[in-house]
Amino acid sequence: MATPRVMLIAGNWKMNGLVDDGRTLAQAVAAGASEAGCELLVCPPAGLLSTVAAALSGSAVALGGQDCHPEVSGAHTGDISAEMLSDIGCGFVIVGHSERRADHGESDDLVRAKAEAAHRAGLTAVICVGETEAERDAGQADAVVGKQVLGSVPENATAANTVIAYEPVWAIGTGRTPTPEDVQAIHSHMRNVVSERHGGEFGANVRLLYGGSVKPGNATELMGLEDVDGALVGGASLVAEDFLAIAANSG
Ligand code: 13P
Repeated sequence: MATPRVMLIAGNWKMNGLVDDGRTLAQAVAAGASEAGCELLVCPPAGLLSTVAAALSGSAVALGGQDCHPEVSGAHTGDISAEMLSDIGCGFVIVGHSERRADHGESDDLVRAKAEAAHRAGLTAVICVGETEAERDAGQADAVVGKQVLGSVPENATAANTVIAYEPVWAIGTGRTPTPEDVQAIHSHMRNVVSERHGGEFGANVRLLYGGSVKPGNATELMGLEDVDGALVGGASLVAEDFLAIAANSG
């Protein structure tokens, strides 16, 4: 059965900020959270997680990691497990961001294993998908995104422990966005794909975020689309005022 989907505005800080910056930014987001009218999530780099967890304590802002390893622990230098993220206070983790797919050669199979690890640890996985500009120009956006969704979402995923973020690679950090019609069309396509694979209840209830150059000025239009249930925000999430304005414009 479909329940109303609560809007989620998530900030992906990527590899930005030192400890003081993270604390200040998190405190500012926490201070404005009660007026947001939607769920807020911030995903700082791993080294800032503890500081940000302390700064968010007592607020309604959720904390997430930017990646996790599929295993619980072991000889995996430089990696962090979903259990470690949960232990620090995370409720979410981003997996399969296009920057990790490109920089670290992450496949759909690996992204799915990471999402399974997130679920094992009790985290909500924010699974990212999105086509390149060449793929869109070739008319392959639906096919590419559909394949990524099918390959990256675990078989036993539920709408409660899974969020899917559509982030066209060519819109990330460029100031360019697809038209609202194109965003709605591909989100509707994703909802159909997951409904067929995981059932109508999953399809109706899973939150689909849009990411790629979301700013206060375009949030109202993009977040107002029928099948858009929130945003995954990069650059604008580093400025508390802008991040909160996006949330305010999305309610
Ligand atoms: P920008 O908002 O900077 O385009 O980044 C989007 C993104 O990659 C969020 O994960």
